[in-house]
Amino acid sequence: MEAWNHGTSVDSYDNERARFRAYGDQLISAHLRLREMVEDLYVALDEGRDLHVYCMTLCGAVTKHHKAEDANVFPLLAARHPELEAFLRGLRSDHNMLAHMLGRLERSTTYEELDAVSAVLETHFIGEEKRLVSVLNALEPMGDLGIGVTDGRA
Ligand SMILES: [Fe+2]
Ligand SMILES: [Fe+2]
Repeated sequence: MEAWNHGTSVDSYDNERARFRAYGDQLISAHLRLREMVEDLYVALDEGRDLHVYCMTLCGAVTKHHKAEDANVFPLLAARHPELEAFLRGLRSDHNMLAHMLGRLERSTTYEELDAVSAVLETHFIGEEKRLVSVLNALEPMGDLGIGVTDGRA
């Protein structure tokens, strides 16, 4: 009996659950980090810093996040929630549009291009957060879906 209380298996299970719990919360954290990267790029523009570094950080992180959503999150949600299919199709099309816009931003890092990316990204994030967070949080943990944004500050 005591062995159960002193064993580590329960703790390990809790740790695993904590690591992989709440995919919706992971989505919110990722979006917050990406928003910070947008702000960092605005500051870099204001201060005339090396835009290339900040731009590559933002573009790389957004691209990685969107690829993980396309490859892991959306197929999972489509399988379990067929009613979301049209909404998910819209999100994929946002991802494609943003990929083009990020390409333009990389070629020409101006306020105009950044304003455009920032506006579309914000609308996209809000849509995902409103519609997907509660659904994602209800999923059982099943491993890393790759949506987290872990890059350090530029
Ligand atoms: Fe997305
Ligand atoms: Fe997202």
